[in-house]
Order: sequence, then C-alpha cells, then structure tokens
Amino acid sequence: MTLARRLHDWFRKNQRDLPWRRTKDPYAIWLSEIMLQQTRVTAVIPYYERFLARFPTYEELAAASESELLAMWSGLGYYSRARNLQKAAILMVEMGGFPSTYEEIRELPGVGDYTAAAVASIAFGLPRVGLDGNIVRVMARWTAESGDVKTFTIRTRLQQVAQNQMDTKYPGIYKQALMELGATICLPKAPKCLYCPINDDCVARLQGLQNTIPIKIENTTRISEERTVLWIRKGEELLVWQRPPESKRLAGFWELPEPETLTQAKLFEQLGEFSHSIVNHKYRIILREAKLRGGAGDLCQWVRLDQLKDLPISTVLRKSLRLLKLDPRQQRNEGVS
Ligand code: ADE
Repeated sequence: MTLARRLHDWFRKNQRDLPWRRTKDPYAIWLSEIMLQQTRVTAVIPYYERFLARFPTYEELAAASESELLAMWSGLGYYSRARNLQKAAILMVEMGGFPSTYEEIRELPGVGDYTAAAVASIAFGLPRVGLDGNIVRVMARWTAESGDVKTFTIRTRLQQVAQNQMDTKYPGIYKQALMELGATICLPKAPKCLYCPINDDCVARLQGLQNTIPIKIENTTRISEERTVLWIRKGEELLVWQRPPESKRLAGFWELPEPETLTQAKLFEQLGEFSHSIVNHKYRIILREAKLRGGAGDLCQWVRLDQLKDLPISTVLRKSLRLLKLDPRQQRNEGVS
C-alpha cells in the first residue's frame, strides 16, 4: 500500500477531534492555521471557538474595531497575526470572496508558504504540501535523512519526497495525516514506532536511528571561530579575490582578503564585526581596515565598488558592504521599502 493510503486509513481512525476539522469553510480553516502558527493546539481551541462565534465570516472580521479584535486575540500573543488577519479580511471584501488558488492565498498578509499550502490543500483540495516541524521530522525519519533539516537543501529534498508521495485525490487529508502522525506518534523524543502506520518501511526505524534522526545541530555545539577579513581601498576600488573554479565552496565568488593569505597587509582599525554561519561553523567575522605594503600579489585584484553589484559576491563580502552601508542591493532598493 502506498504511504499516502496507509496514512489516510490511519488518520480516518485515529485523528483527534479538533474543531477546525469539522468545517469546510476556507475562512475558518485559514483562521485555524494562522492561530496555530505559533501556538499549541490545546491553547488555540478556545480562542478559535470564541473568535469564530464573534466573527463568523470575513465580512464581520473586516468590520471589527481594532480594540475588539485585539481583545479577542488577547493572550494568544504575536498580535501582528490579528492585524494581518483583518487586513486580509478587508482584501477579501474588496475581492468579493476568499481566494481559491495557492498563489492568491500566498499573497494574503500574514500567509507564508506553509500556511498557503495548508489552506490550499485542506480547504480547496489543491495538491500542495507545506513543511512544518512535524512533517519534516516524519519525512526525515521515513527516508533516514542524515543531514541538518534546518538547511534549505535538506528541506527542499524533504519537501520533494512529501510532494511525490502525496495522494493527489486527498491532499488535505494527506497533509493533516502527516502532521497528526508527527504530533501524536512520530514524536521528537521516544517516538511510538509500534503504533505507526508507516513503520514497516521507515528507514530510520529499520536502521534503529529513530531517536537520532533528525540530527540536532545546536547553536552551542557549533564550532565557533573568529576570522578577520580586510578592507583595503584605493580610491573607488576595493581589493578582492575570486575563488578558483575548483574551490569546494562558493567557486567563482568574490571575497575579501584575509591577513593569513595577504601577509603584506598592515592592519589598522576595526571597522565592525558580524556573525556568519555555514553548516556547523559559526564565525565571528572581524572587518579591519588595512593597507598594502608592497604589491597586491597574484591572488587579489582591484575592483571598482560600483562593479561589485554585477559580480557574484560572497555573503561575508555582502555583509561587510552592508556594515559600511555600501551594499549594492541596499542602494538599489532604496526608496522602495
Ligand atoms: N498545526 C498547524 N496546522 C494544524 C492543523 N490543521 N491541525 C493541528 N495542528 C496544526
């Protein structure tokens, strides 16, 4: 039996009775997803019921006074969620209905990729799966994903697995079943594998890794290191170097020089510092002004600051430019936000 089919059967028999599962109203489903964004299910239930009793439609929510709206939200926290809900409700009044495509739902204030996928699949049966912490854990274990699930690459991979396994006839049930499994069986600690409907092909379980996957990379266990990068200017030009094509990381990207490789540099004052993380390294980057004693050598080149915007530059270089208020992206966006 397919993964989706087993999840479906299990969910039908074992799902918790939650108020937003008794409705097909997109407005109510959207409200539940917004409330559940940063709040636990048990805390949300009474708020959800009170809110819907007072504002049963988006028209009524759109017409609410701010003070009443915030009073109904009081205690749930993250009040921007309530303000965004009302902004979205006002848009719905203007549009004459609740949006019914993923793209339109995603455009609503306060709605990100996950919430848009949840509403699109549960309320409209659209074939979208968003990843939340529960679904990430289930998918990571099912495939024995050994990478860091916080990274974009791994999340994209898990998203693809979840999407590929989806039952396109019942995407809403599929999504909720995955989440329910994560919330009640595939728990972060001590998962209840014996009761799991997909335990017979869960690779983590087959390999005895259910307690170690997904791996946790705590910030505190990251290797912490200090690195200095050099800011060497000559008029409108900056001294930079380009990573060679065979470089393992960031091949072809432009970087600031470092004192270890540019030994002919004389270091002056510190211009600032910032943090920078890659995989399990956390760097404290110190940006220091420097001057050359002698030539620039073969590795480095002088590049005009206004040309940097057309080159692939590393994040460290971008953060340095930003620190000195010279980021080309910042300048291009000025006046927009
Ligand atoms: N968390 C986010 N969405 C949820 C839902 N529909 N049911 C239970 N918990 C959730």
